[in-house]
Amino acid sequence: MSSKKDNKQINIQLFDNKRASSYEDRKLEYNFNTVPFEWHLANSLKFISNNSKVIDIGCGTGELIRNIAKNKTGKFIGVDLSESMIDIAKSNTPNIQNIQFDAMSSLDLKIENNEFDFALMRGALHHFSNPQKAIGEAFRILKKNGQLHILDILSYEDSEIDIFFNKTNVLRQPANFQFYPKSKLVEFCKNAGFNQIELFEHIITMDLDKWLNTYNETEKVRNLFLNSSEKIKKAFNLREENRIFLIDFVSFYLVAKK
Ligand SMILES: C[S@@+](CC[C@H](N)C(=O)[O-])C[C@H]1O[C@@H](n2cnc3c(N)ncnc32)[C@H](O)[C@@H]1O
Repeated sequence: MSSKKDNKQINIQLFDNKRASSYEDRKLEYNFNTVPFEWHLANSLKFISNNSKVIDIGCGTGELIRNIAKNKTGKFIGVDLSESMIDIAKSNTPNIQNIQFDAMSSLDLKIENNEFDFALMRGALHHFSNPQKAIGEAFRILKKNGQLHILDILSYEDSEIDIFFNKTNVLRQPANFQFYPKSKLVEFCKNAGFNQIELFEHIITMDLDKWLNTYNETEKVRNLFLNSSEKIKKAFNLREENRIFLIDFVSFYLVAKK
């Protein structure tokens, strides 16, 4: 991982210039991070208690934290590297009093130790060039018994499938740094000091061509999937239905307790 380039500038370019204004438009944004939104939100609302202090790290336009703030009492803050995403997040929440947004990096949170009850990272960990550091920062700002929730797409324990998944995802979108299998996520959390870790899974089915069309190297990644080995096809449950190629990914909701 250390040989990979820091992707901070690519992330800033992508989210500042292209994404921010249309980010929550599901028709334009066939983005696999946005597909299981209802499942993610339902879990967050189940796990987060009223009167908590909650931070969403890599909050983007603030969709998750905004919807939690609408349903819970407490104090809510969203932080993101991209100033444009933060500007949109602010303009999306004109009437919510207990929510605030600030631009900052997950790798260097300008926040005191032991401040929050819950820290969330949705669709964000795979963008961070140093996931261990980001999870360590989350641990630092959480109170004792606080919880980190990571919501993202799972990679695979089998190294051939893990490499294929990451290769195609980085080709498709260079702002992606890396996706991780469960064992690696658990290792990051344990290294940071978390002691109780649970991971819930949810299968999401994608239309391969719609998924590819939103980003780069469409033909190349399409061919990689369609010409892949039987093992890879089976891992993604690649199939054709009514002339549409479908693939499955695994969305996850991880809860780590301090
Ligand atoms: C795929 S978006 C997810 C946004 C939001 N959490 C959601 O679920 O819609 C990833 C976000 O991570 C942000 N990001 C990337 N690198 C970051 C970093 N080092 N620190 C903080 N945010 C970062 C991007 O600017 C972008 O808004």
